[in-house]
Amino acid sequence: MTSTVTTFTERYLLDPAINAEPYGYLAALREHDPVYWSTMHRAWLVTGHAPLTRCLREPAITADRVRPLMDAVPAGARDDAERAFAILSRWMVFNDPPEHRRLRKVFQEPFSARAVGRYADMVARATRALLARRAAPGGVGDLLADVAKPLPALVFARWLGVPQRDGPSFWYWNARVGDLVLGATQEEREYRTSLQSLVNLDDYLAGLVRARRAEPADDLISSVLAGGEIGASVSEAEFVGMLTQLAFAGGETTSNLIANGVRALLQHPEELAAVRADPELLPASVEEALRFDGPSKMSIRAAAQDFDLDGHDVRAGDRIFLVTAAANRDPDRFPEPERFSVHRSDSTHLGFGHGAHFCIGAALARLVARAVLTVLVHDYPDLALAGSAHEWQSSLLNRSLTALPVRY
Ligand code: HEM
Repeated sequence: MTSTVTTFTERYLLDPAINAEPYGYLAALREHDPVYWSTMHRAWLVTGHAPLTRCLREPAITADRVRPLMDAVPAGARDDAERAFAILSRWMVFNDPPEHRRLRKVFQEPFSARAVGRYADMVARATRALLARRAAPGGVGDLLADVAKPLPALVFARWLGVPQRDGPSFWYWNARVGDLVLGATQEEREYRTSLQSLVNLDDYLAGLVRARRAEPADDLISSVLAGGEIGASVSEAEFVGMLTQLAFAGGETTSNLIANGVRALLQHPEELAAVRADPELLPASVEEALRFDGPSKMSIRAAAQDFDLDGHDVRAGDRIFLVTAAANRDPDRFPEPERFSVHRSDSTHLGFGHGAHFCIGAALARLVARAVLTVLVHDYPDLALAGSAHEWQSSLLNRSLTALPVRY
């Protein structure tokens, strides 16, 4: 059982010191109360592993956050908002059952480990080619910019079927959509740009779907179309809307898994040595990176009805921050939670979420992260951090380095 600490003082999660090193504060918060009403954030902060997993299965909680996003749009940008919000309302992550099940079903098979595994050679080749071009052994560079950012983008574009010439606009629109969903849009002009980018992305992907209908290829869109559900259980507009979530959900997160994972291994030389000695430990090192310093710090939800959460009265409309970064270090779940260890066998970390919304891209993310680590571990025996001071993007949701200087 957890003990109660009386001296706890709440702090703002975006306080630069907490954003840079959140785990000590999150441990104090979890120990004080794993289900805590924050007056600062006007939200429940759920930090215990048990209550958090319960929340992710709780029917009184909704994943629908489209309305609050819409309410935040300044009046002057509202004209542009209607179509954009219709698109967002098709994102799996904003839907509750039974709609959520209907939508997600069309992606289940093409995202499975078996289906994604067919791209393993392509991913391995892309990884080797990129490292050979950008990371000369002995040289100094930024592993985030050299490898962790471009590789998932490259793999993702090939897997989705975005031709290289369309890459710049595709990724620009995705970044602006990310600004909107992550709450980085403030000025009316920024809202207009983000809303228009979502519409452009939707138009672009609708064109790709039409092209694949006419001429199937070896890519995600073609496999979903081959499943025969589009136009039957899910409309084409819904399918395209769901596609607009994918690059946002899978791009930066996979980059951060690579960068945070490499950083953790380099900061724990004995663990890195164990992986070098026994490559069978490599998949476990990726899981440990997801637990120890994963790309996603929290998921946001709201109460759809009043309910009781471990003796706390949660009211309909209350915001709920499911702080997975804290739950992943809950000593009631993980022995020695502050230790980075590639020898753990417990795989109940929440780095990919849990329950109905469990990350559908997990197999793809694992494939890419394992491919990079495989090459780095085998071909870069002297890989080391170049400097110990690391800066992090200010974000409630993402754990993102600004750079990862290394000697290759
Ligand atoms: C959902 C993390 C990679 C697509 C989620 C959730 C988490 C997560 C925590 C649950 C969100 C919630 O419950 O609110 C990650 C991490 C990744 C990663 C850490 C990389 C290391 C990917 C990739 C894709 C993807 C590569 C797709 C190409 C999705 C989608 C959902 C999702 C579509 C929503 C699923 C649903 O609502 O049913 N991800 N993700 N993710 N992820 Fe990922």
